[in-house]
Order: sequence, then structure tokens, then C-alpha cells
Amino acid sequence: MAGLMYRKVISSEPEVGQTHLKRTLSWWHLLALGVGAIVGTGIYTLVGIGAGLAGPGVILSFIIAGAVCCCAALAYAEVATMIPASGSAYTYSYVVIGESVAWVVGWSLILEYSLVVSAVAVGWSGYAAGFLASLGMPLPAAILAGPAAGGLVNLPAVIIVFVVAGLLALGTKESATVNAILVVVKIVALLVFVVAAVPAFNVAHFHPFLPNGFASHTVDGTPSGVMAAAAIIFFAFYGFDAISTAAEEAKNPERDLPIGIIGSMIVCTAIYVGVAATAVGSMSYTLYAGSSEPLALILRTLGHPSAAVLIGAAAVVALPTVILAFLFGQSRIFFVMARDGLLPSGLAKVNARTGTPVRITILTAVVVATLAGVTPLAKIAALANAGTLLAFIAVATCMLILRRREPNARRVFRTPLAWIVGPLAILGCLYLFYSLPHQTQGFFLIWNLIGLVCYALWRAVGSRRAA
Ligand code: ALA
Repeated sequence: MAGLMYRKVISSEPEVGQTHLKRTLSWWHLLALGVGAIVGTGIYTLVGIGAGLAGPGVILSFIIAGAVCCCAALAYAEVATMIPASGSAYTYSYVVIGESVAWVVGWSLILEYSLVVSAVAVGWSGYAAGFLASLGMPLPAAILAGPAAGGLVNLPAVIIVFVVAGLLALGTKESATVNAILVVVKIVALLVFVVAAVPAFNVAHFHPFLPNGFASHTVDGTPSGVMAAAAIIFFAFYGFDAISTAAEEAKNPERDLPIGIIGSMIVCTAIYVGVAATAVGSMSYTLYAGSSEPLALILRTLGHPSAAVLIGAAAVVALPTVILAFLFGQSRIFFVMARDGLLPSGLAKVNARTGTPVRITILTAVVVATLAGVTPLAKIAALANAGTLLAFIAVATCMLILRRREPNARRVFRTPLAWIVGPLAILGCLYLFYSLPHQTQGFFLIWNLIGLVCYALWRAVGSRRAA
């Protein structure tokens, strides 16, 4: 039993085989890294799905999901600076709570990272298809959606996963400067959307504000209402944890990590609420609910075809950076879990020629490309959210445990009102999880049961640590 509660100790000495990374990133690089990983399919595509579930009240969904994420981000900033090691929520849980909880969190992170890649690929596909159509090259509908959505396979989504995985396997790590440029492209495109659509703003579009009510309830077997939309829209807000993976490369991590994490949440929440309010106010939500490229559709309908092409182009160019960030994060989670002896070390084997974990990158790409090829966006995003919600609950819990267990430990960043913010993050995440579709909750449970069986087998056979 003691092994289940075994806690990992983080050494300040570099581990064997670990190399020092150059400290080249300043606070604005970290801010750009955070915004770069956060702004993606969520705001570009899920605003349509969210509006379909909540109507104009989708604005409240954005505010609720953003507030929960901000509370989690504060906890993240405190814990990430106390435990500046790779592995994110998995490592924090291992250090603070113990091995078995760390396993469940790591297993959920694997799900989250894989599914985010699939979901962003599907979102990218919608914009790529719209962009090609606007250039007079429409793709056949059969290759733009999986069987559940009336097509054969979502081919562009499959292709983009393999292209990005190929770059990653070859050792391409997106440079902070390229990332910063693409972040500017994504943000400028969203601002162009707001500027072009705002003249059509009409308060009449806000009525009825809550056509499907507030709390999640079921309409024809599908949850709807503000909370159901918030549980999906939550997808748009995460990614800031990517910043903590750059801790070793930050010039002044103690000051700059919290600036990056909290700053990126504030910037994104402000932009998202602005975009959602503009979308809802400029056109009846029924016209773009469920669209695969809602922002471009709104601009085309309002008579701004060039701005629509610009939004499509920005999405096509910039969304793959989110795929890259999460595929990279995925390989890091595998790598750290394998290094801890919780996964077979062969899985995270680094290719001698490219210096990257080629095997796991290809395996992940095959799985996520298959999912992206056949599964609708809302279903993938919902399941990715379930994994993320669990990780956020774990991080907020770690913050509170550390406050109690080590009240005098040095804290570079102290979450203000921690005993309010921490429980708010935990309760908010639980409520969002409760608001997810039952099918998603069921899949998540099955995924974790499979994980627990693997963990039990692994313990029965004996871990590398125990040996
Ligand atoms: N927040 C990221 C996105 O919306 C995952 O694409």
C-alpha cells in the first residue's frame, strides 16, 4: 500500500542524461507561448457549437469557463513555480499526493493532449475547406467529415496531424519567435472579425437570451443550455500549462512564469468575450450554430468576403501551432512517465539521429489522426475537456495541500485568496464535468478504468523503482 502513496522527490540537480537548456525566453515570449497554445479551434470554431447549445447566452458560457480557468491558472502559477519540473499536473500530483493519483492524472493528460490534437485538426479542416472553397477549389463533402456527420473521413484533419507529427519527429521545435509572429496573426484576425462585424451589432439578436435555459438539461438526448455550452467552450481556454514546460528556458522564471500564465488567461478571456459578444450581436445565432467555420461564415453573410478569406487564412496558417504544442506536450508526458518507470521505457525511446521520441510521436499521430478522421468536433472536445478538468482539479488540490503541509515554504507566486480561489477552481471544474454529455462522462470513466487496470498490472509485475 505504501507504494501507492509513494511521492516523487524533485532534485535541484539535473537528472542523469538531462541537458541544460539555454535561458533565452523573456516574459513576453512566455506570454506569446501561452496565448499561442490557448487561441485555437476553441474560439475559431466552438463559438458556433456553443451558440447552438446556449443561444446568445453563450457569452455567459465564455465568462463562466474563463473564470474557472483563471482560478485554475492561479493555482497552476503557484504550484508550477514551486515544482519547476517537466510533466505538468502529473508531476505535481506525484510530488504532492502520491503515485496512484499521479498515474490517474497522467493517464487523463494523455487523453487530453491526444484529443486536443484531434479536435484542433478537425477545426483546422473546417477553415481549410472554407478557405479553398473561397479560392474556387471546393472539396467534396464526403472527405470533410466522418461517418457520424454524414461523410466518409475528414481527410484534411488526418493530413494535418501527420504533417505536424512528421515535423515533430524530424526534430522541428517551433521557435519562440515564429510562435510570437503566428500569435499576432491569430489575434489580429480576431480583431479584424470584431471590427468588421461590429457595425451590424443589433441588440435584437440577444433575444431570447437563454432559449435553452441556464443549467445543463437534456433536449432530445443532448445536453443544452449555458452550462452545457460552458463545458464545451472550456476547451477554448486551456493551453496555458504549455508555459510551465518552458520553465527551464525562461530567463527569470520566478517572475515571468506567473506573468505568462495569468497574463495569457486575462488576454484570452478579454478577446474571447469580445469575439463572442460580436458574433452574437451581429447576426442571429441560428445562422451559424454548428458551422465548421462560424467566424468566416458571419463575415461572408455580412458582406465582407475579403475579411472572411483573411480569417480563414489566419486559421489555416496559425492553428497548426496548437497541434504542434500539444503533440510536443504529449511526448513530454509520455517521456516523464516512462522515466519515472510508470510506462514502458521503450515507448519514450529517443531516436539517436533526430533526438526526438519518434516512436511515440508516430503512435500518437496514428491514434489521433484516426479519431480526427471519423469523430465530430464537439465529441472530441468534450472528452479532451474531461481529462483537462481532472488535471485542473488535481493542481488546485495540490496547491491547497501544500499550503497546509508546507505553509512556510518559499513561494515565488502566491495565489491571492487561495482558500477561496482553490475551492472555486475545484468546484467549478466539478460543475463543468457534471455539465458534459453523459456519453462523454461514460467514456472518461471507461478510459480511467482501463488505466487503473494497467496500473494494477504494472504494480503486480513490479515497477522499475521497486526492482
Ligand atoms: N485552447 C486550445 C484551442 O482552443 C486548445 O484550440
